[in-house]
Amino acid sequence: MVSFVEQAALNREKLLQGISPEILRQVEKFEFLFTISAEKLKEITAHFVTELAKGLSKQGGNIPMIPGWVLELPTGNETGDYLAIDLGGTNLRVVLVKLLGGSKFETVQDKYALPDNIRTAKSEDLWAFIADSLKAFVIKQYPNKPSHALPLGFTFSYPASQDAINEGILQRWTKGYDIEGVEGKDVVPMLQKALSDRDVPIDVVALINDTTGTLVASAYTDPETKMGLIFGTGCNGAYYERVADIPKLEGRLGKDIDQNGLMAINCEYGAFDNEHVILPRTEYDIQIDAESPRPGQQSFEKMISGYYLGELIRLILLELHSEGVIFKGQDNTKLSEPFILDTSAPAISETDSTPEFSEIESLIKNKLGINTTLDERKFIRRLSELIGNRAARLSVCGIAAICKKRNYETGHCAADGSVYNRYPGFKERAAQGLRDIFDWTVEPKDYPIVITPAEDGSGAGAAIIAALTEKRLAAGLSVGVGK
Ligand code: BGC
Repeated sequence: MVSFVEQAALNREKLLQGISPEILRQVEKFEFLFTISAEKLKEITAHFVTELAKGLSKQGGNIPMIPGWVLELPTGNETGDYLAIDLGGTNLRVVLVKLLGGSKFETVQDKYALPDNIRTAKSEDLWAFIADSLKAFVIKQYPNKPSHALPLGFTFSYPASQDAINEGILQRWTKGYDIEGVEGKDVVPMLQKALSDRDVPIDVVALINDTTGTLVASAYTDPETKMGLIFGTGCNGAYYERVADIPKLEGRLGKDIDQNGLMAINCEYGAFDNEHVILPRTEYDIQIDAESPRPGQQSFEKMISGYYLGELIRLILLELHSEGVIFKGQDNTKLSEPFILDTSAPAISETDSTPEFSEIESLIKNKLGINTTLDERKFIRRLSELIGNRAARLSVCGIAAICKKRNYETGHCAADGSVYNRYPGFKERAAQGLRDIFDWTVEPKDYPIVITPAEDGSGAGAAIIAALTEKRLAAGLSVGVGK
């Protein structure tokens, strides 16, 4: 059987047959810029490990390494009804989770489409929208009103500092969000107030990052779970760290917190290498950063996550058009529009199996109003492969770094998110990247560290965390600094 890498080389050769020397030169230029060798992956991973430790230290570092105040591993026997919400890129998802014990759960959910331009709305509008959606959900699910306030786990997928499980001070917006008046503030009282103003009987008991939810939900059903990962609009990971290895919490913990116990850490490793010492940033990555609402932040995320992959292609196509290399004599008005291409553009380009790439042809025609030649379509195909492959290979440096930090030689890394679930070839490329870092010589089916599809982190995970929190509170145990 030909290996994944051999197959990719064969595909490349076939694709580039008969292509003009001018376009071939461009292909080779971008192959050089976007290919990341095994050596480079190892270097990045080694630096990543030191950065994880730095983030846990008293002085801190680029990677926030936020203690998540989840102090237990779920047993699988947690039970009860919980609400969970997750503010995603296009929808607010509201979920009623029934934890049944025996590692089982059931969910009922509704999605509420985010209003247009919510990414730049006013703070009040955001909380009003969430509270109104929750109200509608509760009325639908409990026509006779619930008998008691419903506990809610709030999945908030942005870097939020937590000195306790029921707070989250937004450090900064990511993924193109830019809502004024929220950064630097605790988001839990804002949501709680909007709920109280509308008489919605809900108690926000826990604020959870999506990665922490993914970690806990997957650990509920699979004890081999070592971390929770999101490869989607943004990217990030969470894992359980030994409390004794979190120096920044020293002297700040209640006596009942066991130093030999574990605490979930929301790494926020999208911020890896914000100081630009190791990642091979191209001029296009630099431009994406410079033109984003938060330049200098989320350097790693901006190279690999779904929010940026289409934009990366657009910037390259725009440059080549302005140099007169492609789309000769055609109007670039649409191509000049930031974020007009989303991740579906490289994804469609990578899966187009028609002989003359007619799917790429319609994509570029419909989105950009541009007619393409076969050579241009071949270039777009190859560029998409390069960008997709780079994203997958860089993505696994975070996984490898956590494994090295915690000395994990085997285990499951539970992953979720649109890029992991839907981007073609991501899973195979990620596995290959891990192989390159760890020098495994066994067959892919025997790789000891495996990226597995996660359980529903922002639904079940948030609910399980809410349940674990209620249990600790009922037993008089702490769930935060001084709480
Ligand atoms: C956020 C993280 C989140 C990740 C995946 C990043 O932009 O900062 O909190 O976990 O996206 O959703």
